[in-house]
Amino acid sequence: MPEFSKTPATVREYCDLREASGLGAFPMENARIGLANTLTAVWLRDGDRLVGMARIIGDGGCFAQVTDVAVHPDFQRQGLGAKIMAQLLQQARETLPSDLYLSLIADPGAENLYEKSGFEPRYGMSLILP
Ligand SMILES: CC(C)(COP(=O)(O)OP(=O)(O)OC[C@H]1O[C@@H](n2cnc3c(N)ncnc32)[C@H](O)[C@@H]1OP(=O)(O)O)[C@@H](O)C(=O)NCCC(=O)NCCS
Repeated sequence: MPEFSKTPATVREYCDLREASGLGAFPMENARIGLANTLTAVWLRDGDRLVGMARIIGDGGCFAQVTDVAVHPDFQRQGLGAKIMAQLLQQARETLPSDLYLSLIADPGAENLYEKSGFEPRYGMSLILP
């Protein structure tokens, strides 16, 4: 059974899991910059293999965003996504100030997971920087 790990994803592991889960890989250089600016993250490993993750990024005081919630397809629908969200929010409560505004953009199909974690629907917008 996969377990939470304190060993952060390498840039390669992060890109590979994003791709395998269907989130889509970023260029390696983007991922290197992004990972270095993580506020808190959950890494789930089956042995050495990274099979789940989630991160919180942001200014650390007023606004933060949940990103990269992913479970490898080999391990989906076993409750791991819910466990990852619970662990991520526990770490957030332990390391980030109360009253911080935590948001996320839910991909279609994942709304239930976030509503169960206490998130409420809002109207979000996004673009990919050209
Ligand atoms: C979303 C994701 C992280 C869920 O991980 P998981 O380990 O399969 O989730 P769990 O088994 O803990 O399921 C938790 C809840 O998520 C929801 N859920 C999970 N997979 C779902 C799916 N394919 N379709 C609809 N709801 C789903 C359900 O509400 C589920 O609760 P239930 O089993 O009581 O119905 C995983 O499916 C994934 O990595 N998907 C691809 C990447 C992605 O879309 N990430 C979210 C970006 S916002």
